[in-house]
Amino acid sequence: MPALANKSYFNYGGQGPLPSSSLEAMISSWQKIQELGPFTNDLWPYLSIEIEKTRNELAKLCEVRPNRIALTENVTSGCILPLLGLPFDAGDHILISDSEHPGVVAACKEMARRQSLIIDVLPVKNLREGISEKNKNEVDLINLLEAHLSKSTRLVVLSHLLWNTGQLMPITTVSKFLSNHPLKPYLLVDAAQSFGQIPLGNSAASADIYAFTGHKWACGPEGLGGVALSQRVLSESSPTLIGWRGLQHEGISFDNKPNPFHSDGRRFEVATSCIPLFAGLRNSLKLFASEGTQTERFKIIRKLSFNLWKELNAIKGIEPILQGQPPSGIVSFTYSNNIKSIDVVKSLGKKSIWIRNLQDPDCLRACVHIMTEFKEIEGLTTSLKEFL
Ligand SMILES: Cc1ncc(COP(=O)(O)O)c(C=O)c1O
Repeated sequence: MPALANKSYFNYGGQGPLPSSSLEAMISSWQKIQELGPFTNDLWPYLSIEIEKTRNELAKLCEVRPNRIALTENVTSGCILPLLGLPFDAGDHILISDSEHPGVVAACKEMARRQSLIIDVLPVKNLREGISEKNKNEVDLINLLEAHLSKSTRLVVLSHLLWNTGQLMPITTVSKFLSNHPLKPYLLVDAAQSFGQIPLGNSAASADIYAFTGHKWACGPEGLGGVALSQRVLSESSPTLIGWRGLQHEGISFDNKPNPFHSDGRRFEVATSCIPLFAGLRNSLKLFASEGTQTERFKIIRKLSFNLWKELNAIKGIEPILQGQPPSGIVSFTYSNNIKSIDVVKSLGKKSIWIRNLQDPDCLRACVHIMTEFKEIEGLTTSLKEFL
């Protein structure tokens, strides 16, 4: 990973560094496309194989069948393409957590404006226990859901791993809880921070829309993501950004066909994509797999983040956002003096140490991955002390 050679990198939740062999896999794929094509009958079988190999790989990681996967460009489009096609009625409520990413929030707000929906907010920002005993997190979250769901709620929007505080949301428990609601609200999960980092178990399979990207924790190229969809969304959501890839076949007639679109995840795919990216992402996933199972890798991430969290907790004047051990590689914290977060980011950047600041809550965020070294954590904490 050339990006890691000249810096201490703690921004995996923003973007993962690309391994050299993934870049090479993309270049080879691009060369192959030029040799076979670019627009010839000789090329199409290669493109189809690339697409289906990638869909199968992502389906395996999400623990769903490949027909439930739509390939997208990023997390946001994975959330929005199926979301905007859901059948809502004026006056329906949608419940969005207070820790969602601005793109998804904006889409929900605009959808609510156009369709006269009512937005309610699920306050999860202050669930800050970290790894808790006796499933306290789950109990707290279910209590919050009970308090904020209305009888007209048709959709719940919640990230799997909150990008601001780093608190993990128990998606399968939420899904089970929602299935007992009279309207069985759809569950949209932003998986930007969980995919590639956390063993997903049944989470993707139990959500209605589970949207992720390859360019963060999976360290693939930017421009390729996906979304796992429930059977319910596949049958009830209409394609919104409509293009030839969503059609059963290009010549299909609309005249006698009420639904000319694919009935599987492809109904949300649009048009020409950058196919070499597919080889790049698969290569990054393969490299991670060669370092151990997802569970083994996650154990390493947790060990590193616990180390960072403990170091920060021991510094007088720095307060980690989570009160207990971080459940993932995200470690957010604040200074108790008046120092501005952005000034810390800029100043660390001058030393080639890269973290980021967040606005809500106002804090700093450092992410550790299996590539992180203990000495980098030490370097970060030593530099952070200098601001006190
Ligand atoms: C939780 C979350 N959702 C969505 C996004 C946006 O990702 P993308 O640009 O892949 O849509 C991010 C990016 O940081 C994120 O952290």
